[in-house]
Amino acid sequence: MFFAPPNGANVRDETTDSAIYDLFNDLPMNNYVKVAALGDIPTGGSKLVEVNRVRVALFNLDGAIYAIEDVCTHDGGPLVEGVIVNGCQVQCPRHGARFDIRTGAAVSFPAFEPTNTYAVQVRNGEVWIEQPR
Ligand code: FES
Repeated sequence: MFFAPPNGANVRDETTDSAIYDLFNDLPMNNYVKVAALGDIPTGGSKLVEVNRVRVALFNLDGAIYAIEDVCTHDGGPLVEGVIVNGCQVQCPRHGARFDIRTGAAVSFPAFEPTNTYAVQVRNGEVWIEQPR
């Protein structure tokens, strides 16, 4: 199971840490929505989904799944179509701004504002994300 709180800090639980496993199983799921199968997002890959009319880009960084809004804050570029650089950043295909996939932070010009992030849970091979509001 993987869990990513809104700040993007992923925690991996291989079910050997029962304290983390139990804590996360107690989380309410009613604000999460299933968006993909884990197998749909290979390591280093991405997938676009839409929830509540919000485009969300899912990324798999070394087995940890992250969800960010698929909108470059410079001029609306589709981040899901960008390339992953430095292991954890996506480069916007329009003008080259980069965002930290784990936190949504803009890390290079010409973007200055972060893009939204959404908490992720992976359960039984299914990817669930916190619903965008
Ligand atoms: S739209 Fe993304 S860098 Fe300009």
